[in-house]
Amino acid sequence: MRVLGIETSCDDTAAAVVEHLPGVPPRLLSNVVAAQAVHGEFGGVVPELASRAHLELLPGTVEKALAAAGMTFGDVDGIAVTRAPGLVGALLVGLSYAKALALALDRPFVGVNHIEAHLLAPLLEGAELAYPAVGAVVSGGHSELFVVSAPGAYTIVGTTLDDAIGEAFDKAAKLLGLGFPGGPAVDRLAREGDAKRQPLPRIRTDGDSLDLSYSGLKAAVRRLVEGPAGRVLREAPDSPEAHAFRADVCASFQVAAVDPLLARIESAARRHGARSLVVGGGVACNSRLRDGLESLGVRLGVPAFRPSPALCADNAAMVALVGGFRLARGERDGFDLEPVPGLEESGLVSAPA
Ligand code: KG4
Ligand code: ZN
Repeated sequence: MRVLGIETSCDDTAAAVVEHLPGVPPRLLSNVVAAQAVHGEFGGVVPELASRAHLELLPGTVEKALAAAGMTFGDVDGIAVTRAPGLVGALLVGLSYAKALALALDRPFVGVNHIEAHLLAPLLEGAELAYPAVGAVVSGGHSELFVVSAPGAYTIVGTTLDDAIGEAFDKAAKLLGLGFPGGPAVDRLAREGDAKRQPLPRIRTDGDSLDLSYSGLKAAVRRLVEGPAGRVLREAPDSPEAHAFRADVCASFQVAAVDPLLARIESAARRHGARSLVVGGGVACNSRLRDGLESLGVRLGVPAFRPSPALCADNAAMVALVGGFRLARGERDGFDLEPVPGLEESGLVSAPA
């Protein structure tokens, strides 16, 4: 069965094909992402512009994904589409397209939870998740820590009390004049900097809480950049001194943002007896997080799955993967399926642990 996946929950328009055959792991046949350029000048995702861009980009993106898999529309056996969580207008574009295609081709379709897709994405690279797994979904809109007791059984054990980690990366990058999205630029520059030269406060939360908070860190970066140390950015932004300052702030920010996350993943893993670790979402491309998770896995004696960057960032392959499992079981959704913007309302998560 060849499943076409469609993803439009935020600012990436994506389509992919995954082949599901009995007795063998799902196989990725194509994975196409059209990143929307329009948000750069605003320094963040503009929901209305995202919906319009999905409308424009989705048909061509699906055609590219089919062509890359050597297929035509007639070869599609089922359709999987992200229906929650995300920007409601953006979700609606993908969902409407999927329904129309299902009707036109007379093929089944299912709605997929984007967060579940991030958590299971490593299965596309042959990972065997041992349960319970502890997983972190970290992106521009999410910073959640899950216990996965089995496929389909997810509990949130930690979340951010305010901003998402990716949002904090993007904000720090913007304050430093590094463009949007800024996570990759911060990660790159951090390698040249010294984390001790411009220290930033570590995130603190109550007692043994597994929650995170990024608003204080964001404010601290602002104070640093707008204060005396940041004068070089205002007076000589193109100088080697400004470059060195940016690199030091990036290094320090990265430690302050990532290490508390790793500490909470470790606490969750110990508390819940994790037998594997997994990360997903755009921030899972971060080198400090990836290296730190690998060391943590070694320390705990469990595998630590860090999907390749194309499968960490938003993509439709993970949607075709998860939707394909359901289609293979004979499950179908009806044409009355509606988008659900919030994670809490999405039905993914069981009662708190
Ligand atoms: O999952 P994603 O593609 O989209 C959503 O936000 O849903 O994640 C994008 C986020 C952005 O905030 C971006 O700055 C961040 O992931 N990001 C990174 C890195 N690559 C992408 N953050 C830190 N380090 C990176 N290498
Ligand atoms: Zn995502």
